[in-house]
Amino acid sequence: MKIAVLGGLGYTGTILTKKLLSGGHKVLAIDTSWFGDKIKNNNSLKKIKIDIRDLKKISFKGIDKVVHLANIANDPSVDLNPSLSWEVNALATKMIIEKCINDKVKHFIFASSGSVYGLKKEKKVTEDLSLEPLSTYNKTKMIAERIIQSYKDEIKYHIIRPATVCGYSPRMRLDVTVNMFVYQAIKKKYIEVHGGRQIRPNIHIKDLTNVYMHFLKNDKLKSGIYNAGFENLSILNIAKRVSKICNCKLKIIKKFNDQRSYRQNSDKLLSTGFRRLHSVDDAIYELSEKLINKTLIPDDTCFTVKYMKKKKFN
Ligand SMILES: NC(=O)c1ccc[n+]([C@@H]2O[C@H](COP(=O)([O-])OP(=O)(O)OC[C@H]3O[C@@H](n4cnc5c(N)ncnc54)[C@H](O)[C@@H]3O)[C@@H](O)[C@H]2O)c1
Repeated sequence: MKIAVLGGLGYTGTILTKKLLSGGHKVLAIDTSWFGDKIKNNNSLKKIKIDIRDLKKISFKGIDKVVHLANIANDPSVDLNPSLSWEVNALATKMIIEKCINDKVKHFIFASSGSVYGLKKEKKVTEDLSLEPLSTYNKTKMIAERIIQSYKDEIKYHIIRPATVCGYSPRMRLDVTVNMFVYQAIKKKYIEVHGGRQIRPNIHIKDLTNVYMHFLKNDKLKSGIYNAGFENLSILNIAKRVSKICNCKLKIIKKFNDQRSYRQNSDKLLSTGFRRLHSVDDAIYELSEKLINKTLIPDDTCFTVKYMKKKKFN
């Protein structure tokens, strides 16, 4: 199959693109390459380094499926320039899906976010619960979902709401909870926990990319929204796991800004035959080993907001 991955050079996109190439697919990776390009050239891979807002330069003619991961990808980066994020995360998504329909793409997969739930006390946070997006990032995702759903009669779509992702990718992110705690544990020998009681679902990057592969393969599955999050853990619990495995101390700071607290229930995804294979602990072991043996050497690109601030993307 010919598959376009928008954001194909990002943290998740790098692993997904590599998996698709290993599976014998032809891949078109469209990405501004803000955080570099960690994928070797390959006869089955075409990279186009452009902004998805520059629609004139994009054609999906001959492409079977599109996976759309190209967004400003967390709360603080969105807050740096909210207009940019509305343009990229919501407006460009509208233009992209229309282009897909015009160019006869049969299947559209979008990375939303589990964080659209915002604050939820329910033990089983399923796809049908109301959304309470707290940040601008969450709001751009909610609106993008609604835009995609409005094309339901014109294209098959699957909207995935990933939990916070953990684990290694050649385009590394050390600003997501588990990865950040492992980095602190190895570098500083202590972990700073802000608050701690907030509950967050998690997903290993290998499982999340398998979720995208699962939907690409099973395109007969009903169009709709699917949660993709498994281990619902408090921030303190995640920090304790990291401190046990990496043998370091915890520093608890009572004041915290990030109020998001929710679980995710992924029974709907599991009912489609998807099985998860990896855990938060797997990510902790793998990352700590890579940091200790220096097969992962962090640079500025690993810290999305800091890097975006420095480079002034717009
Ligand atoms: N990592 C997580 O914990 C997580 C959780 C839930 C949802 N998501 C979503 O998954 C998707 C992938 O996230 P990620 O963690 O791989 O982040 P990432 O920042 O590593 O990947 C995003 C990629 O998109 C590219 N990009 C951004 N704006 C672009 C534009 N205007 N035109 C072309 N390319 C552009 C960036 O260069 C980057 O390579 C995002 O939509 C994100 O919101 C991520």
